[in-house]
Amino acid sequence: MPAAAGKCVYASVKAQDMEEKIKTIIATLDSLVAEGISAFEEVGELAALSALESLYLGKKSVLGGVKKEMSSLDPEERRSVGEKLNAARETLEKKARHKKELLEAAQLKRQIEEDICDITEVNIAGLYGHLHLVSQIRQELEDIFLGLGYEIAEGNEIESDWYNFTALNVDPDHPARTMQDSFYLDTVDGSSILLRTHTSPVQVHLLERGEFPIYAICPGRVYRRDTADPRHLPVFHQIEGLVVDEGIGFADLRGTVEVSMQAIFGSETKTRLRPGYFPFTEPSAEFDITCVICKGQGCRTCGGQGWIELGGCGLVHPNVLAASDVDTGRYSGFAFGFGIDRLAIMRHNIFDIRSLIENDIRFLSQF
Ligand code: PHE
Repeated sequence: MPAAAGKCVYASVKAQDMEEKIKTIIATLDSLVAEGISAFEEVGELAALSALESLYLGKKSVLGGVKKEMSSLDPEERRSVGEKLNAARETLEKKARHKKELLEAAQLKRQIEEDICDITEVNIAGLYGHLHLVSQIRQELEDIFLGLGYEIAEGNEIESDWYNFTALNVDPDHPARTMQDSFYLDTVDGSSILLRTHTSPVQVHLLERGEFPIYAICPGRVYRRDTADPRHLPVFHQIEGLVVDEGIGFADLRGTVEVSMQAIFGSETKTRLRPGYFPFTEPSAEFDITCVICKGQGCRTCGGQGWIELGGCGLVHPNVLAASDVDTGRYSGFAFGFGIDRLAIMRHNIFDIRSLIENDIRFLSQF
């Protein structure tokens, strides 16, 4: 500890006469200032600087002690000692402030230098980023349907129970509505809000817009409480299609599935519909395409069947049209939906769907 800073001068001067006492105080202040200035000059760390500040300027410092002592002085002497005291404090404070600025600037400079990241290094290897396989396929699908005159609709990833289930004619007891199958959000008022489990809610938004005809697709992310395994992800992508116009029937659906699948998988691809069930379509069907690997001969990918199941479709259920006040006497429609990630792994014969989300550059760079 610097000598003057820690010394208590007053107890020992009590007995001396006033003049002596003042002299001692002034001399102490002088040496304190000189000593403080060189201490502040030498210090090289912010933490050490703040320790010095409390030592020289804090309540328990010599300056603090002199201040306390002031009350025992005569008014005349008090003034001259007070001036000296204030001048000493100002000098030391100024010195400390200046040093603080210098140290902070140096610290910032050091930090900036440490944080420098040479982003030009990445391309030394000739690596450039590109769209993820799923985004590439989504864009390809969008192009195909734009070519057929469809619009691309925006959906919401967070939906109410009404849009995700009720307006789509899903029974109140349907298993998809349980906590085990869907991700519900905590809401202040207890209302049922969830991460959409399929892209079908966009059908309801399009219908309630009340503008016809509708020829629309909606690609996007959907969420289900599934454990990730080679064939499932809890977050994946679907594309929904909705057509509502006068005189739309099953043949229109059949033709659309055929044409769009051939555009995606090649003109030699065949499609077939099998009876299926969805609450929001009637009749409903599952649709299959000929296996992209064996072209229908039967192989490991298609389990020897020659066919691969791709999605669901059907004519829009009258209850769905009615829930959104659509004139069912005038309009009818069809809808379809299928998984984009599933399409991606099928087209490229990818063994495990989880590869799509692992961000392994060796996998991603192949597409
Ligand atoms: N929403 C259905 C699903 O997620 C697919 C579907 C869409 C079926 C449109 C029929 C019509 O499985």
